[in-house]
Amino acid sequence: MAPASQVFIAVIGAGGVGKCFLSQLELLSKRRPTPTLALAYIATSKKALYSGDYAPIAIDHALSALASSTQQPLAPPQLADFLAAAPAPVVVVDNTSSQEVADAYPLFLRRGLHVVTPNKKAFSGSYALWRDIFAASAASGAKVYHESSVGAGLPVISTLKDLVETGDEVTRIEGVFSGTLSFLFNSFAPAAGGGGGGGSKWSAEVTKAKELGYTEPDPRDDLNGLDVARKLTILARLAGLAVESPASFPVQSLIPRELESAASGDEFLRRLPEFDAQMEEIKAAAEAKGKVVRFVGSIDVATKQVRVGLEEFDRSHPIAALQGSDNIISFYTKRYGSHPLIIQGAGAGGEVTAMGVTSDLLKVLSQIS
Ligand SMILES: NC(=O)c1ccc[n+]([C@@H]2O[C@H](COP(=O)([O-])OP(=O)(O)OC[C@H]3O[C@@H](n4cnc5c(N)ncnc54)[C@H](OP(=O)(O)O)[C@@H]3O)[C@@H](O)[C@H]2O)c1
Repeated sequence: MAPASQVFIAVIGAGGVGKCFLSQLELLSKRRPTPTLALAYIATSKKALYSGDYAPIAIDHALSALASSTQQPLAPPQLADFLAAAPAPVVVVDNTSSQEVADAYPLFLRRGLHVVTPNKKAFSGSYALWRDIFAASAASGAKVYHESSVGAGLPVISTLKDLVETGDEVTRIEGVFSGTLSFLFNSFAPAAGGGGGGGSKWSAEVTKAKELGYTEPDPRDDLNGLDVARKLTILARLAGLAVESPASFPVQSLIPRELESAASGDEFLRRLPEFDAQMEEIKAAAEAKGKVVRFVGSIDVATKQVRVGLEEFDRSHPIAALQGSDNIISFYTKRYGSHPLIIQGAGAGGEVTAMGVTSDLLKVLSQIS
């Protein structure tokens, strides 16, 4: 196939990540004039902007033009029809967390549309969807990349793929995969706190994290461990384990059972102090052994064990010494021996997440132009 001189970009989702992606796309289109990157479609859940003749939308004015648009978003089948008829290759950039959009990847790929996304839903849902996505990609040749679905812009997925594809044997993957839970435990049980603990009461730390904007609007969406379980599902599958779903392995929830049914996030936070003693006990048990407690995910490839929950670490362990809301991911492999390959840094934030999406776009471009 001749290299493409023009590539159409369709952006679904223009929130925190989508906005940053658009500014990175604008820079990229200026810095890299060939192929021409033409924005052909942009949508949120309520509005869309596109032209029947694929006339490019000015990237620098796309958000204001979208805000004043009266066009409705196209449902995935109609969007696939519209984009598949475009006179040049198309990359769909899904910057939503929508299951409906994720479910359409096999359709997009079958129709020859490339997909790049930070959306975890497609890769951590049912194993059938995972298989459909990669079967559709293999059949049509359309590419699919999702670097930012784990660790935001950190090169976690590309590194794991490189390890596997170059024939290394990944034996164990372990890490802190949630910026929110990283922040909470680094504050609640600091490694530098000596034997005296340090850190405030658990409920005070959760309230502080929410005030600083580190948690979801309802902190239970972080504390239930599901987001970490989704990321572990993705990595386990890439490491060769046929994990059926994020519900198919043990995931420890940090929500006290009595507060699971609290009517709102605010009510949950108001009642959380009643359960501070439980977390204090867990922290003290670790401290008595000279350790600290952290919320981690781990995959033991040989025994096919995946688990998410609290674990104790020596204060000198890289996981214990993590700072702020950083993520850390350690790959233990045959080649790396007892010293794992470690990736560490910001695992959330619009700019770094969009960087992973933009670098995925570059990977697609390098293969089609
Ligand atoms: N933010 C981070 O630090 C981070 C890190 C790693 C991965 N991610 C992932 O990146 C993705 C985007 O995150 P975000 O923080 O940018 O979320 P966000 O601020 O909530 O933005 C989501 C955007 O998607 C749109 N949207 C939702 N459903 C849609 C649909 N069915 N069709 C079209 N548009 C739809 C929303 O439109 P409305 O405004 O109209 O609802 C909004 O523009 C998520 O999958 C998230 O898990 C984010």
